[in-house]
Amino acid sequence: MELEQAMQGRRSIRGYKADPVPQALLEEIITLASRAPSSMNTQPWHFHVLTGEPLEQVRRGNSERMLAGVPPQREIPDHGQYEGVHRDRQVEIAKQLFAAMGIERHDADARQDWVMRGFRQFDAPVSVVVTFDKSAGMHGTIAHFDLGAVTYGLVLAAWDRGLGAVINGQGIMQSPVVREVAQIPEDQTIMTCVALGWPDDGFAANDVRSTRRTVGETARFIGF
Ligand SMILES: Cc1cc2nc3c(=O)[nH]c(=O)nc-3n(C[C@H](O)[C@H](O)[C@H](O)COP(=O)(O)O)c2cc1C
Repeated sequence: MELEQAMQGRRSIRGYKADPVPQALLEEIITLASRAPSSMNTQPWHFHVLTGEPLEQVRRGNSERMLAGVPPQREIPDHGQYEGVHRDRQVEIAKQLFAAMGIERHDADARQDWVMRGFRQFDAPVSVVVTFDKSAGMHGTIAHFDLGAVTYGLVLAAWDRGLGAVINGQGIMQSPVVREVAQIPEDQTIMTCVALGWPDDGFAANDVRSTRRTVGETARFIGF
């Protein structure tokens, strides 16, 4: 697949077939993603790949705590409430997803059900928990940049192989659960997780194409 085709075609996948994903394929994807650039080639990333019963434990623990009202416990600073244009874009994609799924604006139960799907990592057969070395994170936020690069590489490489993925902050909202189940080493910080699997073609939200600002809106050219 051409890079341009993958970049244009990729979108977040939130509905999956139950079919397992072979470990060898996941290794291939992680190998490709690991070609990402990083600050001074520090490569501070780690991938903890969960499936089966351990992933079910994470889903259960995460969902139960969120339902019980336990405040989110993440290991990186939370983004808080988005405002202004950022809030507008957040609302726009939510509207697109709800419209695709037939979720009415005032249907609180259906909306809650959708949110809970996110906490369950959209029932994907695989979750890749992405962490970074605490020691690299002590030098500011550059390690976060490195993790963003490698995580985008991961979802693109997955797409190239016919897999779908969604970067899923909701899945690690209760990070102590993830840490305990996946036995994340103490010297690593949990950044996010990526839900991954074979896309369910009948799942309407998978067809949603989010909008993008144009070059005219985002870029300035100086000295051309
Ligand atoms: C850091 C980060 C966290 C995200 N967390 C979630 C999440 O918890 N739940 C979700 O449904 N999508 C999540 N997403 C996916 C975004 O909603 C999605 O990338 C965005 O709406 C653009 O859509 P696209 O990926 O289909 O182009 C996350 C993406 C990023 C980069």
